[in-house]
Amino acid sequence: MLPAHSEQVKSLLELCFGDSAWTKESLRSQLEKSDSRCTVVVEDDRIIGFLAFEQVLDEGSIVEVAVHPDCRRKGIARSLITAAIQSAEGLNTVFLEVRESNTPAVGLYESLGFERIGVRKGYYQKPKEDAVLMKMTLM
Ligand SMILES: CC(C)(COP(=O)(O)OP(=O)(O)OC[C@H]1O[C@@H](n2cnc3c(N)ncnc32)[C@H](O)[C@@H]1OP(=O)(O)O)[C@@H](O)C(=O)NCCC(=O)NCCS
Repeated sequence: MLPAHSEQVKSLLELCFGDSAWTKESLRSQLEKSDSRCTVVVEDDRIIGFLAFEQVLDEGSIVEVAVHPDCRRKGIARSLITAAIQSAEGLNTVFLEVRESNTPAVGLYESLGFERIGVRKGYYQKPKEDAVLMKMTLM
């Protein structure tokens, strides 16, 4: 992802997350983090997928993933996450949090081999909801 993609990524996140989407400032600070890598999928000059991935030593985390509603169930999120994990060096485990009610995302993560390891009570706001904590251990 390049800084020039920011406006389109912000629109995609608003479409996918509504009120709880990242602000312009949170997107900029994610882009500036040294341990973060943001990736976009572009089709005909339109951004249809976004992933924010972080790595500290041997631990990775999926911070955000979103695919345009018109382009879902085509393997885009799976490809984004798989590519991030495969291109990371020295990775041993990957963690993430997901809203308990987010069936598509939980289905995505389980299909990739993530396992549920805990619950963070009331972790999310707008609306308030528990987070499921998931982990993948790499071979
Ligand atoms: C979750 C999300 C990123 C999935 O993106 P996607 O590109 O449609 O996912 P993929 O096509 O790569 O799906 C891979 C697998 O995930 C699972 N999956 C994806 N969407 C699903 C759904 N609606 N219901 C059940 N399982 C689903 C399936 O196992 C799927 O494999 P299959 O299509 O071969 O059955 C997308 O729905 C999205 O942007 N949602 C809104 C934002 C969001 O909730 N992000 C996650 C925050 S934690």
